[in-house]
Order: sequence, then C-alpha cells, then structure tokens
Amino acid sequence: MIESNVPAPATAELLADKIRNRTAHVGVVGLGYVGLPLAVEFAHAGFTVTGIDVSEAKTRQVNAGESYIGDIPTSTLAPLVNSGKLRATTDFAAVQDLDTINICVPTPLRKTKDPDMSFIVSACQEIAHYFHAGTLVILESTTYPGTTDEVVLPMLSKGGLEVGSDFYLCFSPERVDPGNPTYQTVNIPKVVGGCTAACTEMGRLFYSQALETVVPVSSTQVAEMVKLLENTFRMINIGLVNEIAIMCDRMGINVWEVIDAAATKPFGFMPFYPGPGLGGHCIPIDPFYLSWKTKQAGIEARFIELAGYINGQMPHFAVDKVQTALNSAGKPVKGSRIHVMGVAYKRDIDDMRESPALDILMLLERRGAILSYSDPHVPKLKLDGLALDSSPESVAADADCVVIVTNHAAFDYPGLVQRSKLIVDTRNALKGLTSDKIVRL
Ligand SMILES: NC(=O)c1ccc[n+]([C@@H]2O[C@H](COP(=O)([O-])OP(=O)(O)OC[C@H]3O[C@@H](n4cnc5c(N)ncnc54)[C@H](O)[C@@H]3O)[C@@H](O)[C@H]2O)c1
Repeated sequence: MIESNVPAPATAELLADKIRNRTAHVGVVGLGYVGLPLAVEFAHAGFTVTGIDVSEAKTRQVNAGESYIGDIPTSTLAPLVNSGKLRATTDFAAVQDLDTINICVPTPLRKTKDPDMSFIVSACQEIAHYFHAGTLVILESTTYPGTTDEVVLPMLSKGGLEVGSDFYLCFSPERVDPGNPTYQTVNIPKVVGGCTAACTEMGRLFYSQALETVVPVSSTQVAEMVKLLENTFRMINIGLVNEIAIMCDRMGINVWEVIDAAATKPFGFMPFYPGPGLGGHCIPIDPFYLSWKTKQAGIEARFIELAGYINGQMPHFAVDKVQTALNSAGKPVKGSRIHVMGVAYKRDIDDMRESPALDILMLLERRGAILSYSDPHVPKLKLDGLALDSSPESVAADADCVVIVTNHAAFDYPGLVQRSKLIVDTRNALKGLTSDKIVRL
C-alpha cells in the first residue's frame, strides 16, 4: 500500500502494485548516455522495458543487442534483448501499453545561450498523443526550475487528466558520470520530486525497485534546482581553479603541486583541477539554464557568467602555451606539425560534445599549424573544414609539438616523453615524469 496522501486509491494502488510486483511496463524516451543505462537497469530489475528513440539507427542497434554506450557492454545488453526484457522502437504508439515513462532527451543551449526546449516539447507532444490514466511520467533531462510544472504538466493534462490522481508526474535529475567505473546508474543516489506528494511517492516507489538509494524532495522545482546546484558548483569551482592556474603561470608556480598540497587539508577544501576548457553535455551548459531562468526574475547570475568567461578562455590559454613553447624552440606555429593527444571531452570516453579539443584544433589551424591527433575512443574527427583520422601514438615523434588535451589511460606517457620533441601537458598527465621537453599548464 502506498501512503494515505495518494488521493485516488484505485489508480494509485493499481500502479503501485504493478511497480512493486514488477509487472509495470517501463518506457524510456531517449536512449542516449542517460536513457540506455536506465533502461538496462530496470530490465535487470525484472521489468519489461520499451525504449523509444527518434533515431532508427539506435533502436536497430538496441534490438540487435549491440551497445553504443561505453558504460553498457554488449554482453550486458544482448541477454536482456534476447530474453524479451528490453526492446526499442521509434513508434510512440508504444506509450499506449506503458505504465511508466522516463524522459531522457537532450537539453542543449541555443546559440544565444537560451535553453532549447524543443526536444522535451516534441517528446511530450508525441507522448500526449497516446497518453492514458494510471501512468507515472518522470522527466530526467536537465532543465531550468519550473519546466516540469510549466511545460510538461500542461501538455499531459490536456485531455482532462488530473495530476496526482489520474496520473503522476515527477522530475528526477540524472547524475550519471560516463566512464566512472565506481558510480553507475544503480548506485548513484536518485533525487525525485513530484508535482504532488502522491507523485513524489510514486516516483520514490518506482526508482527504489531498481536503484540502491532514492532521495525524495518536496517538489519538482527542488529536484530541478538540485541538478543545477550540483553542476553550477562544479563549473564555478573549475572556473576558480582555472583562474588560479593562470595566476600561477604568471608567477612561475606549479599549480598542480599547489592543489595536491592543499588537498592534504582534511576538512574545508575539495580539489578541483584546471584544464584546457570545459566539455560535455552538462557542465558547460546546465548553469546557463539557471542564469536564463534567474534573469527572468531580475537576478544576474554573476558567478556563472564570470566562471563561464574564465573557462571559455582556457582553450586560448592552452594554445598560447603551445605558441610560446614552440617560439622558445625557435619555431613559429605556422607550418609546425602539432599532434593532439586525446580529443574526447574527458578521460576514457568517446563523447566529443563541447570538447575543448575542438576549440584548440580550430585555433591552431587558424594559426597555420599542420594537425594530427591520437584518440583510441574517437577514430574520426570532422569540424568545419577539418577532417582527420586518429593516428597511432608513434606519430607524435614526427611532431614539432605534442599537446595532451585528454588524459586517456590507454596512452603510453613515458614512451610519449621519450619520443616527442616538445610536449604541452594541459591535464597533468605527465605527473611524476620530468624532462625539459615538458611544458605544464
Ligand atoms: N550524458 C551525461 O553525462 C548526462 C549526465 C546527467 C544529465 N544528462 C542530461 O540528460 C539528458 C539526456 O542526455 P544524454 O547525454 O543521454 O543525451 P544523448 O544525446 O546521448 O541522448 C538523447 C537521446 O534522445 C533521443 N531523442 C532526441 N529527441 C527525441 C524525441 N523527441 N523523442 C525520443 N527520443 C529523442 C536522441 O536520438 C538520443 O538518442 C540531457 O538533458 C542531459 O543534460 C546527461
């Protein structure tokens, strides 16, 4: 039995029973880095799961049992597909048979840094078409506070259904950290907040079937804001440490040594590390969802704008380092061979979204460098007029300068130092190695 604050016992109890005995048919809309791991986790927990995605290529791959997400091995996906626990479709008519729907579609920024709600809106329009009473819907896409109540709720209530009694609506921030072997969907605590107390309770019940820890909060807005606090916290602290790195560089101090020593303080300090710039679908983007929303309330999000500015300067700072290093070796950037190690936005993943490597390559190309790169996770790269294939690490030996942009574990760093003429290390990947060839950020 769910708690007495559920106003319509018949609908609520039916759905709660289906969730508890795992006969609820689970739907996941958007089968990307967030949606596919979630679908797999619920299929693992014994639910029958249908994934809906607009990409035919992705649904075909899922139905063939082939994973395209690094954290989900094909050996995990295939048995779930073969046993009929998980399937994928592009057809939203599947919503008619679903008891729960998690929405995990992209939320990028427009060029103007305004939120792009078009993916959420189009997914909800399709869902609304086949929507029925007795369904739990949970938005997981990162977004500004108010989206669930102001954008999703009106679309789902259009047919006259009442939230909290005919259907249940929640927001739950996704915290997945691609490439993290310790924390994955199942053991990352899940925050959930509903439009009503009954919605929150239904969301809590649902996640607790498959995930280890669920943290209910009092509203969708609180849940939405939790995610933005987490990512803004990260973005601003990275901005601070990037500014410290620029200061240390000017004063000839090794910033990495400073951070490591500061991190020995057992309280009141948490280490963040500088780098060539922010990347990924979250940290460079999500805080601007918050600043866009607060602007409407007449509040300038000054920390966010400032950190955004400093972080945005880092690819330029890295390229200036390369230029200075080459100049000290008596070479101009123009006509020099520069080899970039790692182009994904972070270590050991294949995701190129917002990767600072893209900015760095473009800036170097504009200065006339002859470019190559190595990345075991990204075999090909296309941006503007530039199309490159990943080269073996040995190519570094032919370069006038090597730039480490992403510190993948697979790289042979001692070998790289031995082979290269000059290395600019933007990630402290060469920690512990000493050579006159190394220039650190
Ligand atoms: N990737 C991360 O590490 C991460 C972490 C936390 C939160 N998030 C958030 O989760 C959300 C999803 O991110 P992601 O990284 O999984 O994105 P993604 O691009 O990997 O996946 C999104 C999927 O949605 C599909 N899609 C787009 N429009 C659709 C529609 N109208 N109907 C059905 N499917 C549609 C796309 O084809 C794609 O497969 C975003 O809001 C993101 O900010 C991502």
